[in-house]
Amino acid sequence: MDLISKTEQILKEVIEKNNFDEEAIVLSVSSKPELGQFQYNGAMAIAKKRGMNPRAIAEQIANGLNEYDVFENINIAGPGFINISFNAACLKEYLSEIIKDMSQNVKKYPSKKVFFDYGGANVAKALHVGHLRTANIGEALKRLTKLVGNEVMSDVHLGDIGRQSGMVIFQLREEHPDWVFFDENYDGEYPTEIGITNADLERIYPLASTRAKEDENIMEEVRKITAELDNGRKGYTKLWDIIRKISIENIKETYNGLNAEFDLWEGETDSYPYIDEMLQVLKDNGCLVESQGALVCDVADESDKAEIPPLVVIKTDGTTLYATRELATILSRMKRFNPDELIYVVDNRQGMYFEQVFRTAYKSNLVSKDVKFTFVGVGTMNGKDGKPFKTRDGGVMKLDSLIGEIKEETSKYVKDNENMDEKEQKDVSDKVAVAALKYADLLPNVEKDYIFDLTKFCSLEGKTGPYILYSAVRMKSLLSKAGDNEYKLNDIYSQTEKDIITKVLEMPIRIDKAYRNKTLSDVTEYIYEIDSLFNKFYAENRILTEDNESKKQSWLFLTKLVYEVNKLLLDVLAILIPDRM
Ligand code: ARG
Repeated sequence: MDLISKTEQILKEVIEKNNFDEEAIVLSVSSKPELGQFQYNGAMAIAKKRGMNPRAIAEQIANGLNEYDVFENINIAGPGFINISFNAACLKEYLSEIIKDMSQNVKKYPSKKVFFDYGGANVAKALHVGHLRTANIGEALKRLTKLVGNEVMSDVHLGDIGRQSGMVIFQLREEHPDWVFFDENYDGEYPTEIGITNADLERIYPLASTRAKEDENIMEEVRKITAELDNGRKGYTKLWDIIRKISIENIKETYNGLNAEFDLWEGETDSYPYIDEMLQVLKDNGCLVESQGALVCDVADESDKAEIPPLVVIKTDGTTLYATRELATILSRMKRFNPDELIYVVDNRQGMYFEQVFRTAYKSNLVSKDVKFTFVGVGTMNGKDGKPFKTRDGGVMKLDSLIGEIKEETSKYVKDNENMDEKEQKDVSDKVAVAALKYADLLPNVEKDYIFDLTKFCSLEGKTGPYILYSAVRMKSLLSKAGDNEYKLNDIYSQTEKDIITKVLEMPIRIDKAYRNKTLSDVTEYIYEIDSLFNKFYAENRILTEDNESKKQSWLFLTKLVYEVNKLLLDVLAILIPDRM
């Protein structure tokens, strides 16, 4: 168990022994480090409840803590803040334990099965920067959720049907009217190849979209095709299957490049087999009413402060829509995987929609009340003008181009490195680029919009991916030069070393905060803080040439300790550390 949780347990024992009742016991980092490493501020609350003097309470707790031989210098400050430090023996024992497996330095939760839905790219449309954040944040939240003890699963939930399908099929029909896919009377074998690449799709979709916007007749045609596809018209379905495959290959490549890994590569259409049953459940529970020809579910509640409109489940023309497939997907996930919680990491502009969906799912008993739904609404990456990020000529910025720009910038870190062959140079600069992008993306709170700044994100200084990687690589190479020994913490020689150790002990608090708030900023900030301390320590000492062997051992121990923290937490962020930079 991590030392913070262990100490909180000790506090709980002491508090109970004294017959005080304080439920949530939280240890925090000391606001006055000269007085102690951590502090407990609960004495004031206990005193208030009982009408007693907080200092007297603090003293009783402090006396109780002194019975345990893990602390030193327990003292009380101000009205009753209890300052706590761990003694050398306790630190040595704990640190030599976690250095072997840093995941022990994390607060653990009873295991639940948590299902993650993120990524959400749309087939036949190029990925844009909006899909970047949900992929990065979703992947990291999933890994964080696993780290604290849960079982996790993920699905990319591709937008693989909808208006864009109608548009692409329309445009292809215009360009190849003789294809058998368009012949309603055709009953032979359909081709499985159509000689179209993803690059073609990048031309076809925007073209069709512009045409449909300019011409209402075309838009009407697109709607008709979309409805026919939804109804299973054979030629269209076969054609769309081919397009789907081409597009998914490309989407996979992009997500691979971002180290986003999905257990399931399902799309909205994978829910089709569950639609009838889902509708039946809604009907049976009185959750489907007719409204202007459509079927809707009323989800408003008396206590609502803002109006929540009904959720449209079936359109007036009888076809399905995003929400239909959403609800059927929920049914499919419940039946196949039975998760305790479903977490959706999606653009925060879909917040109202998900509120409607979750309410419908509960109200209709599609999902029982003890299953938890969580919507993690994600802000967008904006350009310097504060509007969604665009290309230089004002077009929609494609994710691949954005990543390309960053790779170009980070390639300069390795360009003239004679020690690396070309392959390694590319590998390293790609890793630095992904780190730059991810770190910048995960640094602000998830719901906040932020401004894309290539130079800043790629800088070697400040809170950036390259700075973090550079620090981690420095530790890694130091350790490899020193040889792969098991190092020993013999003594602590300086204030910086003490600070590093306190920072390592603080890790469970920060990880826990990130997990509970469903945001990664505490993880990114924390890595920056500990790496900055390490770099200070590195500048203060000549580790490898130190004559005092015992000192050198301790320093290498600390280096490895911080490296292990980096390894674990960068893995949570899905950032890979190169061997050198
Ligand atoms: N394809 C959607 C979009 O691009 C995101 C999907 C999010 N997940 C979900 N279960 N609806 O907006």
